[in-house]
Amino acid sequence: ITKYRPFAPVDLPDRQWPSRQITTAPTWCSVDLRDGNQALPIPMNVEEKIALFTLLVELGFKEIEVGFPSASQTEFEFMRRLIDEQRIPDDVTIQVIVQAKENLIRRTFESLRGAKKAIVHLYNSTSEQQRRIVFGLDRSAIVDIAVRGAKLIKQLVATMPETQFILEYSPESFTLTELDFSLEICEAVVDVWQPTLENKIILNLPATVEVATPNVHADQIEWFCRHLRDRSTAIVSLHTHNDRGSGVAASEMGLLAGAERVEGTLFGNGERTGNVDLVTLALNMYSQGVDPRLDFSNIGTICKTYEACTRMEVSVRHPYAGELVFTAFSGSHQDAINKGMTAQARSEKDLWDVPYLTIDPRDIGRSYEAIIRINSQSGKGGVAYLMESEFGYQLPKAMHIEFGKVVKELSDQRGGEISSTELYHAFEQEYLAR
Ligand code: KIV
Ligand code: ZN
Repeated sequence: ITKYRPFAPVDLPDRQWPSRQITTAPTWCSVDLRDGNQALPIPMNVEEKIALFTLLVELGFKEIEVGFPSASQTEFEFMRRLIDEQRIPDDVTIQVIVQAKENLIRRTFESLRGAKKAIVHLYNSTSEQQRRIVFGLDRSAIVDIAVRGAKLIKQLVATMPETQFILEYSPESFTLTELDFSLEICEAVVDVWQPTLENKIILNLPATVEVATPNVHADQIEWFCRHLRDRSTAIVSLHTHNDRGSGVAASEMGLLAGAERVEGTLFGNGERTGNVDLVTLALNMYSQGVDPRLDFSNIGTICKTYEACTRMEVSVRHPYAGELVFTAFSGSHQDAINKGMTAQARSEKDLWDVPYLTIDPRDIGRSYEAIIRINSQSGKGGVAYLMESEFGYQLPKAMHIEFGKVVKELSDQRGGEISSTELYHAFEQEYLAR
């Protein structure tokens, strides 16, 4: 993506700056239909799940956690419909999550009959807090739970040679687990599953609850990657939540720390404050010239489908997607954007270089028309820009100030924003009707 380049405001001759950058997109896994769905006041019905699954496929997700098929009849039926109605494209792998319990694991494999490819995602909780408060078990008993689950999964995989399996293990509550214990339990599962270079396993390290600053999370990921016995046969995956509001930053730093896969949701839907928002994460990469390999070129439609399926709302301030994020209310911002866009239109260079707008709104299906709105805070530049872009009037400089005042007065009287029709009307009254 040549239109953008990584942010690098200073050249420091004595050191490379910044020290690390994200240069390629990770493997994305959408957990919208599972973590996202389980956190909805009204969970999606099968039709809604199918509509959201279709959207996720269109956006380019190649790994999609479709649910918890052993948890309910709806979840089981959804799996069956995806498989029986052949809705899963050949290049998409569905993922199913299951706790390390025998009956649930068996039911999960039943739901998968006939699938071409599947990721089976086993998890159990490992933190000291969970061991003490929830399970009343010591470390070795928690390892046993994971190992027994892993062994059963290995047996059941052998009974379904028609399905290509990838296995995933999550030490749930990883970020609150002692690092040596996270490593011990993951290695125990690795010993059962025996991954190879051709058949790697996914080790997913959830920030089930975000409890620390992103650098601490990154240190945990880095330590794990460095100490894993065989890093080459494992795909280290992130699964950040947003309890401290830094889910995106934590995933970005986790990638810099060595992970190569990210689980998350559209617009950060998910338990409590949500999972990491993949729209923001992917478009952050895009804005630095990294191809995210997800298609957000029509963000309006994506928001609509997401809102219809989940009954959630995308906030007007949501990065990239919110209704107001390409709107400048302040006059000085409007003026700067105006100058930037004029220069951009004249420039031979493709590189995006417009103040206040981190990306070109058109790249995600938004339009310039929405950028400038007129209210009492808008300066003369914004007014002049709108007169030209909307109505083709190039106002002479002196008129910028004069008409700017007229518009400000009008907006003050009205106590709010004025529409472009009202703007034209004011112009007409002031100059054309004389
Ligand atoms: O947040 C979490 O820990 C999860 C796991 C079950 C992967 O959703
Ligand atoms: Zn989660």
